Amino acid sequence: MVDINKLVRPNILNLQPYSSARSEFRGKEGIFLDANENPFGSLNRYPDPFQTELKEKIAGVKECHSRNIVIGNGSDEIIDLTFRVFCDPGKDKAMIFSPSYGMYRVAADINNTGVVDIPLDKDFQIDPEKTKPYLDRPDLKLIIVCSPNNPTGNSMDRETVTFLLDNFRGIVIVDEAYNDFSQEPSWLNRIEQYNNLVVIQTFSKAWGLAAARLGMAFACEEIVALFNKVKPPYNISSINQQAALEALQDSGKKNRAVALLISEKERLVKALSSVDRVKKIYPSRANFLLIEVDNADFLYRELVNEGIITRNRHREIANCLRVTVGTPEENEMLINTITKLQ
Ligand SMILES: Cc1ncc(COP(=O)(O)O)c(C=O)c1O
Repeated sequence: MVDINKLVRPNILNLQPYSSARSEFRGKEGIFLDANENPFGSLNRYPDPFQTELKEKIAGVKECHSRNIVIGNGSDEIIDLTFRVFCDPGKDKAMIFSPSYGMYRVAADINNTGVVDIPLDKDFQIDPEKTKPYLDRPDLKLIIVCSPNNPTGNSMDRETVTFLLDNFRGIVIVDEAYNDFSQEPSWLNRIEQYNNLVVIQTFSKAWGLAAARLGMAFACEEIVALFNKVKPPYNISSINQQAALEALQDSGKKNRAVALLISEKERLVKALSSVDRVKKIYPSRANFLLIEVDNADFLYRELVNEGIITRNRHREIANCLRVTVGTPEENEMLINTITKLQ
């Protein structure tokens, strides 16, 4: 077990957190004269700062304990919170693996945290050998693994993730934003074994709630308590908590969307494989495809002119576009347009 307290920034360890009205009195019944709210209206009350009902529902769906859950304003908030809790600005470092989700570096930069950036190998996997020289450094506080990885689409080798968990005494984040599409086991059932593991998931992808900004972290109770100490008290609005509760009522809807998007992804792979300008389609465990084309800048602009917006990743991976799987009609449009532009 890792001594979590030893990893925490001293000012956070000593922090006296804000105590909100709704955390001091948790009951739902009564005459509420404690939070300087307006007594009139339907959205006039502050939301539950600890999202108790939502966490219980999530715990049911994910088969874990609600006490191991933190909800963030998108998983971006969870990523930022992890830096704020564990990385002393100007002193500590985080390890990331490129190319990956751009917010990791931005969050590090915002928190004035140095980055050890290890390039992924030719199969977009982590080379454990390259991490070894850093794992014992006391200023390395955080390792962020994205699996399935954005923008490459592959899942990270499970042995390598286990190697990092077994050999690093800091915090390991496994960002599983795309896990629902991967049909692979989540790392979240390993939080009991590894108290330094933080698994991040989101309602933005498979659950179709990107507008509601809801991210989830699963971790040991000690880490959950630290996140709760540092997060803004009312970080998830009542409207957004309600949106998630409604989505969770019907997991079947999410599962059907995931199944359709996976089959549409396979259809896209087949159709795009016969397009001359598409040089390579990388295997994907997510809801997007990374495709190498003859000239990514040029094709990107041509598609925009036809009203189809993809993500140009040429600066990170030569001549690659990242294409999200859309509705069957949208995918049909993409296939027809790319074929027409040949
Ligand atoms: C790997 C990864 N993590 C996190 C996020 C952010 O998710 P959220 O909408 O929950 O902030 C994204 C968004 O694209 C992502 O690709």
